[in-house]
Amino acid sequence: MSAIPPAAGAVFPDHVPPELRWDHSLRDFALELDDPFMAVCRLHEGPDIFYARDISQERPGWVITRHALQNQAFLDHEHFSSKGNSGLDQMLGAGFRLIPIDCDPPEQTAYRMMINPLFTPRAVEALDAPVAATCDRLIAQFDDRDGCEFIEDFAIPFPSYIFLSLFGMPVEEAPQFLEWEAGLLRGRTIEERVAAARGVKDYLQGFIAQQRVRPTTELLKVILQAKSGDRPISDEELLGMLYTFYVGGLDTVSSTLGWIMRHLALDPELQQRLRANPDLIPRAIEEFARAYSVVSTVRRVAQDFTFHGVEMREGDLALMPLFLAGRDPRMWDSPHEIDLDRRGNALTFASGPHICVGRFLARRELRIALERILGRFENIRIRPGESYSYHTSPVYGVDRLALTWSRAAP
Ligand code: HEM
Repeated sequence: MSAIPPAAGAVFPDHVPPELRWDHSLRDFALELDDPFMAVCRLHEGPDIFYARDISQERPGWVITRHALQNQAFLDHEHFSSKGNSGLDQMLGAGFRLIPIDCDPPEQTAYRMMINPLFTPRAVEALDAPVAATCDRLIAQFDDRDGCEFIEDFAIPFPSYIFLSLFGMPVEEAPQFLEWEAGLLRGRTIEERVAAARGVKDYLQGFIAQQRVRPTTELLKVILQAKSGDRPISDEELLGMLYTFYVGGLDTVSSTLGWIMRHLALDPELQQRLRANPDLIPRAIEEFARAYSVVSTVRRVAQDFTFHGVEMREGDLALMPLFLAGRDPRMWDSPHEIDLDRRGNALTFASGPHICVGRFLARRELRIALERILGRFENIRIRPGESYSYHTSPVYGVDRLALTWSRAAP
């Protein structure tokens, strides 16, 4: 199938027909070209659904390549279940769940009813001030220089600081949180990743105990008073929830921001257009989020059934790489172009019951960051002679982005 002929190495389950077997790793396939989004989109030449030897962390499973099919799967939790999919229980002990991400409706719906009101467009408007203050604090660290290493100096710390501020955690904790984040997402050994995951868990457990006595932010007051059915939310549920906010809002925002700034550094015309017309920035964020969808998310097949002619078995994994939906040529004209006049609903934040709780906050974070960076620095470009590298797991992200600029007149 597709661009790469299958080798004979892997063992595939019997129910997978030979023409849908792909003896490759999705992560490595995307690393084959200079641009991982272009590299992975070669899969649009193949079948709409196929079975890969390695969809992530060396696990085999189905890959759903089309926008329409992914959307359908997101809406069908009876066949495509989220139960326990994060696999964090293997790192943090049996029973540990990310809430609501590891649950299916109706349990998941009850959790969403608790947290949705906290992240409506109106509710996140109130967070503009702390988000802008975070931006300014980070920019101040390189404001007098002619450039920065954007990923380390801005993209990674930005959402971490916002997480601390959202939950009223002391800003002095930032270096520790950044260390855990690095361990959790980029740790080289399983031991490093488990140690970081435990560090976050222990910290959040202590934090919940303090907050039960004296909550520090409105957000926490509301969450602490929330009920699960007719009983108060337990410490275990709260831990799973705070943990989801932590892992959900960091790498996603940093990575998206990294691709956006790389794109703008290579597209001076668009950069100048947005600088001159900041009211176009929200539209640009939608387009960037579509074209640079960084997440792929997994479901477990809950019962044997046939999905668009493909026989799936209970227990199979099915991957929805959102970057394939975001650039599906059956859904979008010229999908690799950033077109500010484009309309249509991208799946960057998924759809259905699990649609990202933080999507309005994420958009505002990205908008505020772009407004401030484009307003402050002109002629942003990649520092000459700098090399570029990226990773394609767990999300698509830029490793290093050395930028240089001229300062805008005050
Ligand atoms: C550009 C940034 C972001 C992207 C691309 C993104 C993407 C996603 C996606 C694709 C899902 C669905 C996962 C699935 O169905 O398996 C999701 C869920 C979630 N996201 Fe985001 N996210 C972003 C930012 C944020 C932020 C800032 C927060 C923090 C408030 C957040 C909190 C969550 C939570 C709590 C869920 C779980 C929802 C549920 O299971 O019902 N995300 N996100």
